[in-house]
Amino acid sequence: MSEYCVHGGDLYQFIGEDFRDIDAAPETLAADVLDAWYPPSPRVLTCLRDHLSWAGRTSPPLRGQGLKRVIGEAFGIPEAQIVLGNGSSDLIFRLLPDIFRQEGPVVIPAPSYGEYAHVLQRLCGKTVHYFPTYDTGFRIEPAALVRTLDETGAGGLVLVNPSNPTGQCLSTESIRAVLEAIGGRCPCLIDETYFGYLPDGDVSLQAEVQRHPNLVILRSLSKIYALSGLRVGYALVSPSYASALQERTPPYTVSTLAQMAAIEALRDPSYAGQMVAATRERRAHLRDELRSIEGLRVVDSHINSLLLDLEQCTLDAGELVQRLSADGILLRDISSQGDRYPGRFVRISVLDYDANARMVQRLRAHLAPAASAS
Ligand SMILES: Cc1ncc(COP(=O)(O)O)c(C=O)c1O
Repeated sequence: MSEYCVHGGDLYQFIGEDFRDIDAAPETLAADVLDAWYPPSPRVLTCLRDHLSWAGRTSPPLRGQGLKRVIGEAFGIPEAQIVLGNGSSDLIFRLLPDIFRQEGPVVIPAPSYGEYAHVLQRLCGKTVHYFPTYDTGFRIEPAALVRTLDETGAGGLVLVNPSNPTGQCLSTESIRAVLEAIGGRCPCLIDETYFGYLPDGDVSLQAEVQRHPNLVILRSLSKIYALSGLRVGYALVSPSYASALQERTPPYTVSTLAQMAAIEALRDPSYAGQMVAATRERRAHLRDELRSIEGLRVVDSHINSLLLDLEQCTLDAGELVQRLSADGILLRDISSQGDRYPGRFVRISVLDYDANARMVQRLRAHLAPAASAS
């Protein structure tokens, strides 16, 4: 078990962790992380530009009450149930050891975002039981999930919905049924980092936190608001757990710049909506182009990435990622994110049209070299 979870983010191998070659960043296509392909809202950029000097030297509101109020207003959530984090990653590390104390393995659909298994195993001393979705087109059958929870005597459930890396989504109704079947028997964490990509009508499970005190929801402003670099996430928990957590949350968890940017982003929902729609168009186009590559199976998705199945291809995930990296294109081998089929699946992020075209062209060349040479 490694000390750190495997992540994307190889861009820094190209530009340096001291940002020395930052001007060369646009030449590398960072499709190994799920950062937005578009800039933050113009409102965010104007606010940061206008107040950069002041915000850089001024401590933020201690507990981010203003940001909590704006999150509450934006999503209809009581402020008393919101706990802020320095990105949702911060909350994963702070909350999981608290939440998952019950005996029994924690069930995680596989493949799934790797940080959960990592933190559960290394920090919480838990066993992870993977619920495989590889053979059901990455779809989760709610009754089968409940059966697994029963049969394993599960001490918890972690569900990333919609899922990274599969892009699949379990309906609100199905998750409600799972929560009802679980009752209060074990804690459940639902990671809604990507719920903003869902079409209107697919709603968050936020209302269920009132009814299920064993439910915790995590959200991030990194993705659809294009704020990955600023680090803002939040948890939605029961009011009593929120005040217990608040006591243990250091002051200034979210920086002044990040609080200001998050507030502006949330006050400009139409920009995020337009960008989500634009991402959907680019994803459909990228999917269709990739499907024209012989042997490559492309799993459609609800989020800003697609999963590529290389089973019928001449290269495995590791080889493909390495060759594309030499072309300045970073993709994510997801072998470490589950328990089956190592080397078979690669995740590619949706970027803008030109970048997507460059990725398709290089993938075609590497996966069908003879055909592309002619
Ligand atoms: C499912 C999931 N949860 C949480 C995170 C962490 O997001 P952040 O710390 O940027 O809020 C990510 C990042 O990629 C993710 O994919």
